[in-house]
Amino acid sequence: MKFTPFKALAIGALMTATALSASAQTKIDATLKADQPGAEISRYIYGQFSEHLGAGVYEGVWVGKDSPIPNTRGIRNDVVGALKAIKVPVIRWPGGCFADEYHWRDGIGDPAKRPSRKNNWWGGTPESNQFGTHEFFDFVEQVGTDAYLSVNVGSSNPTEMREWIEYLTSPGDDTLAQERRANGRKDPFKVPFIGIGNESWGCGGNMTPEYYANELRRFEAFYHKGKDNSGARVASGANAFDTNWTDVVMKNAVRNMDAISLHYYTLPTANWSKKGPALNFDEAQWNSTFYQTYRMDDLLQKHIAVMDKHDPKKRVGLYVDEWGTWYDVEAGTNPGHLYQQNTLRDGIVAAVNFNIFHHYTDRVKMTNIAQTVNVLQAMILTDKEKMALTPTYYAFKMYVPFQDSTAIPLDVTAPTLIGGKDKDGKDQTFPAFNVSAAKAKDGKIYIGIANMNAKEGYVLNINLGTLKAKSVSGDVLTADKLDAHNVPGQKEVITPVAFKGGKIKGSVLELTIPAKSVVVVKLD
Ligand code: AHR
Repeated sequence: MKFTPFKALAIGALMTATALSASAQTKIDATLKADQPGAEISRYIYGQFSEHLGAGVYEGVWVGKDSPIPNTRGIRNDVVGALKAIKVPVIRWPGGCFADEYHWRDGIGDPAKRPSRKNNWWGGTPESNQFGTHEFFDFVEQVGTDAYLSVNVGSSNPTEMREWIEYLTSPGDDTLAQERRANGRKDPFKVPFIGIGNESWGCGGNMTPEYYANELRRFEAFYHKGKDNSGARVASGANAFDTNWTDVVMKNAVRNMDAISLHYYTLPTANWSKKGPALNFDEAQWNSTFYQTYRMDDLLQKHIAVMDKHDPKKRVGLYVDEWGTWYDVEAGTNPGHLYQQNTLRDGIVAAVNFNIFHHYTDRVKMTNIAQTVNVLQAMILTDKEKMALTPTYYAFKMYVPFQDSTAIPLDVTAPTLIGGKDKDGKDQTFPAFNVSAAKAKDGKIYIGIANMNAKEGYVLNINLGTLKAKSVSGDVLTADKLDAHNVPGQKEVITPVAFKGGKIKGSVLELTIPAKSVVVVKLD
């Protein structure tokens, strides 16, 4: 079921974040339709992506067995503990661009004998291969999550893919299964998702969609989906608004895929050569960030319309397997390592995306934020033995109840804000806040609100209809400064606190939502 998207109020065009006073609190009516449940919100919407890039894996996850940093078989205990707490459902690995140069045999067997390679995509940094297949699955199992492997299509062949899958999943006595056992793993690994190439239009091989569709058909012939390898076949998808890619690949290879991916990054300026800083940005850049983020809604609608043409029964999932903010790298860090700080703005960007994804879950079955630790819009930042949990981490934590919940329509019309001008001088508008609601596995109703307005809060009067609720409780993530952020080893300055702005008045739920905040409430 698709929800009514936000409609701009007539007055909206007149309102900008800068024009509103700090104390103003516009009242807005909304209606919750708890008696009209929609599609399931898959837990995989809350997926992660960890690439061999900068300190994303080495330092961020893998410190080695002899490290003084507390670890289990080389994997950081603090990072595993933090990821368990947000119930990570899936981790995509080893890339990204790295995946199309990765040869799995480099990362198995005696660690002392593994080759060192140059990580050509990410700073030319040496890749020691100490973190390979067995270490990744150990990480996955410690976190209690599912694996999503990206296999090399761009610089490899179907045999290498088939052999990796056999090595991982064969329960038999064949040589590859025996080799896996000799390397310490008796039972097959569980591999529920396999991506066939990554960004095949770019770093994954510079292919045209026609060429990639043929490659997908060829690789898929040797994929042998079945009892031993039941992994969903994920086609390499489009770059942002390139719907022609989705169209051509689906037209030519819809039977060879279970899902197709889509990548979209939020750049405050929409300019890859000067994206905008992660810290010390102004309010104009706050607004342009949210304009660019909110484009995800239009992007999904466009790709879904193309998918509906080729797959009207919605068998094929849309996996947004890379999304998040991408800023200019922090001064003094390796530009190839994509390290950036993470502020209140990022926490709200995450929640805005969750609310959008929840509206399209009949098609959007998985998303993976880029990336888990120390890279781009990270959950966790590490500095040697120290670790910080970011506002993005806390947004994921607040939305945990939405995993495997059932969406419920929440009709509301938000005022609009202005994020910039297009090339014809026209205002680029976006809603000041977005929302979503769901019935969770615990039987309770949850409502999530992401308020993108830097200056103004809102009072939402939500008509609960037939729903009887006695009390409301929840959490709020906000801060005084737009770029409030946590630093490894320093006292946290931004963390969710109890939300006190909810009241039930008969059949109306009143929520007083502060400016620049994420709020998640539960109704009892
Ligand atoms: O997440 C960083 C990079 O962004 C990935 O390697 C690539 O797939 C995308 O271009």
